[in-house]
Amino acid sequence: MQHLLTGFELDQDGYLKLIGLAQSMKADPKAYRDCLQGMSAALLFEKPSLRTRTTFELAMYNLGGHGVYLGLAKGEMGGRETVPDYARNLSRWVDCLVGRVFKQTTLEELAATGSVPVVNALSDLYHPAQVMADFMTIKEHLGKTAGVKLAYLGDGNNVTNSLLVAGAHLGATVTCFCPLNCGPDVQIFNQAQEVGKRYGAKLDVTNDLSALKDYDVLYTDTWVSMGDDTPLEAVKKVFLPYQINDQLVQSSGAQIVMHCLPAHRGYEITDEVMDGPKSVVFDEAENRLHIHMALLATLLNPQYA
Ligand code: CP
Ligand code: NVA
Repeated sequence: MQHLLTGFELDQDGYLKLIGLAQSMKADPKAYRDCLQGMSAALLFEKPSLRTRTTFELAMYNLGGHGVYLGLAKGEMGGRETVPDYARNLSRWVDCLVGRVFKQTTLEELAATGSVPVVNALSDLYHPAQVMADFMTIKEHLGKTAGVKLAYLGDGNNVTNSLLVAGAHLGATVTCFCPLNCGPDVQIFNQAQEVGKRYGAKLDVTNDLSALKDYDVLYTDTWVSMGDDTPLEAVKKVFLPYQINDQLVQSSGAQIVMHCLPAHRGYEITDEVMDGPKSVVFDEAENRLHIHMALLATLLNPQYA
């Protein structure tokens, strides 16, 4: 793996190795404290972040390296100078670019014109590092990833697309329950479907909530993603049937409930569920740190490649 732009760069073994390394790092972080000694990463963020920014910065620090945060919310990247010139400059100073961007094409441009690995920290299309931490969390709670049945409810977005990609590689069942015309990206779904055939994964998209039975995991995300100015109230009527509440958790048979966060309590998930016994949302948040450590070590230290 040279870059992590989409999640299609790895095979099943690559996903399992990353999760395994993250589990080892979680168990004994000190054993890895010199792994990226003297190395650095630029964290380019065009959008806000709590979890991703904090955990990428700490991941570099925990491995003996350093993260330099560049807040680019005012449109600097491509505005003050071109995206390729950002990549060419930064490649002279740092060992890795971590980018949270509006357009997937910005990451592709950084990767094509820079000379260091590029990591997707969320784009319009994908959130690959998020879902790696999510499947690590599933493994911790359910003991496996292959054959796990995950139901995603709500808006088909970057996180949904990435759940399909990771689920396909890991041989999981991922069903997206989304309102009509709010499903995941069709091209990404089809590409994931092809990969999933190799690993026995089952991927599907439906708006038929009566099919929500016998799932192990329920997963949701905001109904309105960053960069979309639509008020939540405006979409509430369409999405409310997909809200994860106590009744829905019970009828689905799910063992755990997940959310990438930030959550909009009372919209896509209720307080009772988010703070209830099946919620693993803060385990997911914690695992972002361990997965990012594993990811950076894999990309930047040949010993772990
Ligand atoms: N889940 C996630 O990416 O959170 P942040 O937007 O806070 O980074
Ligand atoms: N789909 C959400 C994920 C936030 C982590 C967004 O893009 O805003």
